[in-house]
Amino acid sequence: MARRKLIAGNWKMNNTNGEAVSLVKEILENAKNVVDKDIVVAPTFTCLSEVNSVIKNTNVKLAAQNMYHEPSGAFTGQISSDMLKDVGCEYVILGHSECRSIFGETDSLINKKIKRALEASIKPIFCIGETLDEREKGITNSIVENQTKAGFDGISLDDAKNVIIAYEPVWAIGTGKTATPADADNVHKVIRDTLKSIYNDTVAENMIILYGGSMNENNASELLNMPNIDGGLIGGAALKADKFLAIINSKIV
Ligand code: PGA
Repeated sequence: MARRKLIAGNWKMNNTNGEAVSLVKEILENAKNVVDKDIVVAPTFTCLSEVNSVIKNTNVKLAAQNMYHEPSGAFTGQISSDMLKDVGCEYVILGHSECRSIFGETDSLINKKIKRALEASIKPIFCIGETLDEREKGITNSIVENQTKAGFDGISLDDAKNVIIAYEPVWAIGTGKTATPADADNVHKVIRDTLKSIYNDTVAENMIILYGGSMNENNASELLNMPNIDGGLIGGAALKADKFLAIINSKIV
């Protein structure tokens, strides 16, 4: 089965409602006829509702950038899966390296969040990736293997099919440094092999694995044409409609 490409824009802590709406309108206007790729935007929490009102029932889908695993209660500052569903989120980014490194999110917390998202029928975009230090020590493969195993711990085969993985080498995020297409593809292959060992060949072969880390309009095409790379999670270049659209329009051969 050919895997469908998915292009997701992670807007991070950028854009007020007015800015978010004009950005998504421009994306939608120019991408509404795209049929060969899935398109996702992930605005910050305060813009989800407004952005949803623009893209509802279109081919541009909504993601949140995080959520908490408890259903409700005394968790000041947190957002639940029901709240995300209520504003139209079909996806949620979980385990982003900024959440891991700045906010101390652990593998086990991220695993709980993935489980909650799946229970709520929200597709997790589960992020993994090695730091520069880990890459230089030559332990990239074991790091992503361990992160993959921890993320999928206790998740059934049926549920695993609804997870999307984003491989984002931490040293490539927001730095302008990108993994070479061959290096990224190799790591994606390691992730697929890990899924094979946890589940089976079908789950591994059908898993959508995105690359993230300084993907832009110049390098997207080469990355997206690698056999194990199924799309991109894009930060900086997703904040400008023309750049994001250029990535969406990358030719897949
Ligand atoms: P970047 O961010 O494209 O700005 O490197 C990617 C991400 O953090 O998801």
